[in-house]
Amino acid sequence: MPTTLNLELATVAYKVVRDIMAVKKGESVLITVDSAGCWTVAEELAKIAESLGARVMVAYHSTPVGVGKVAEPYLPDSLKAAIPQTDVWLELNTQWLGYSAPYEEALVPPNRVRYLCLCGLDVERMVRFFGRLDLKAQDEFQNKVVEVTRRARQMRIVTPAGTDVSFENDPKRPVLSELWCHTPGAHFPLGQIAWAPIEESINGDIVFDGSFYAGGPADLPSLREPITFHVKKGVCVEINGGEEAKLARQWLDSLNDPGMYHEAHLCYGFNPGAKPSGICVEDERIWGVTEWGFGHQGIQFKADGVSAVSHLDGICLNSSVWQDGEQVLNEGQVVHPELVELARKLGK
Ligand SMILES: [Fe+2]
Repeated sequence: MPTTLNLELATVAYKVVRDIMAVKKGESVLITVDSAGCWTVAEELAKIAESLGARVMVAYHSTPVGVGKVAEPYLPDSLKAAIPQTDVWLELNTQWLGYSAPYEEALVPPNRVRYLCLCGLDVERMVRFFGRLDLKAQDEFQNKVVEVTRRARQMRIVTPAGTDVSFENDPKRPVLSELWCHTPGAHFPLGQIAWAPIEESINGDIVFDGSFYAGGPADLPSLREPITFHVKKGVCVEINGGEEAKLARQWLDSLNDPGMYHEAHLCYGFNPGAKPSGICVEDERIWGVTEWGFGHQGIQFKADGVSAVSHLDGICLNSSVWQDGEQVLNEGQVVHPELVELARKLGK
């Protein structure tokens, strides 16, 4: 009998729809999946939502070339109309629709959709991400990371690949812990802490050595050579590296939008189940990575708000992080005294 993990998937879908999304009877649930995404996961999420009394629709469509606003011309009008009109939106697309016009519309009143990005997650990844995890222990750890990060003003990140970047945090901006999706707005899978440092304070080299996702031809999983962004006052002024760096530069230039070179957010990856897999949503959650976003800045960061035609994410493996001189991570391992014991409970 082939391994399908179908029982595990049922458990995970139940956990996501009932516990994480808190779907209630009578709510509208929209599940979107492009043709490169995983239909099996879409079907399972739909079944669980239906069984909880929700009114469910699965939207299956061809795969856009590019993400964000770049994906918009590929979308059926019926899909664009449906996205802001649902209570809950689960997105399984590989070429994600985040930061597109229907996405932005879905997040502002009066629509106020509860959105969860599950972009590119297939059955095995869903099981790794959600299945065997103690949500309470994960929540406790993430909340402590938020608390510790909120105290930080001056930060520095160094990686073995050559990242050395310093910046300052704005205490008035939120530090987002991604786990529960009970409130309207944009949510991402558990195991990520995200915020937007003060853009003009960011200076140094950011060396992406995990993977790099800018959509279309510049989705570059498992980089053969690192891509280096030289950053001055929050803006990437030069990109260096090998063939993949060249491809990234060509794609970004082709978008013809200077906003694509502006730093948009920073994240910690802390999902104990995530491993390098060539999917952005998983790679950016590998334990101990830092991830930088450039281009369009989500409204959830309550920052200065660079608007751009798309967005890219790049991953720095085995990060060492200091905040106000105190070390938080050492080459991907948690060393901050307030976090060590909570990480141990997660097997880390
Ligand atoms: Fe991002």
